[in-house]
Amino acid sequence: MAPKPFIVYALLTFSLSFAKIFAMDYYVTNDAADTPGGIRFTNEIGIPYTKEKMGMSNDFIWSVIFQQNDPSDQKPLDSVDFYITTFVVEGAIAMSWGNNKINFSSVFLSDYRGDDLKYIYTGVLYHEMTHVFQWNGEGQAPSELIEGVAEYTKLKANYAQSDFAKPGEGDRWDQGYDYTARFLEYCDEVSAGFVASLNKKMRYDYNVGYFEDLTGKPVDQLWNDYKAKYEH
Ligand SMILES: *[C@@H]1O[C@H](CO)[C@@H](O)[C@H](O)[C@H]1NC(C)=O
Ligand SMILES: [Zn+2]
Repeated sequence: MAPKPFIVYALLTFSLSFAKIFAMDYYVTNDAADTPGGIRFTNEIGIPYTKEKMGMSNDFIWSVIFQQNDPSDQKPLDSVDFYITTFVVEGAIAMSWGNNKINFSSVFLSDYRGDDLKYIYTGVLYHEMTHVFQWNGEGQAPSELIEGVAEYTKLKANYAQSDFAKPGEGDRWDQGYDYTARFLEYCDEVSAGFVASLNKKMRYDYNVGYFEDLTGKPVDQLWNDYKAKYEH
């Protein structure tokens, strides 16, 4: 009856590696529970749904977008805090702050008039979760690129809103948000895994030459090729 210690060993190793991958804790607080937006959150979205999507987006960001399957490549975090709150920069839907915190506007939740609130909410959640986990060259990467990567995650997760930029739209590669996301999508066609590799390079610093390192073409050339592809 030899196998017993082996089974114990296998179970132990399995649970240790399991713990490493799934150790992240997600905390959701409705700090606006008595306001119209906080009440709408409780009725139409809820804390369990938010926690579930935080977990799903975290897995998606690590495995698909950034391809960081080795924990040493990942941001060293063990929790993310998410607040439904009035404390968001005026006019903003949501923001990430600190190392691992996200504030989502209760005012936006109250004012939103479309019939797809949960879908829009989830797209913004994917965007903000990307900010929590992405590298930004220790703050040196342009904010337009950082926002573009966050929108790229939303796009790839199939949560793009109806007015999201179409492929080929935009005036500059660093126009930001959905325009830059579409350009990054193109870069990924030119060089598979581009966004993951670019993120990896941006761990400690930023250089616009990273585009050329990864594709063989300077960013302006890439932008011209991208525009040419969608010209008609
Ligand atoms: C985010 O919301 C929390 C809870 O409502 C608040 O305490 C915090 O100050 C807000 N953060 C920022 C950066 O405004
Ligand atoms: Zn953002």
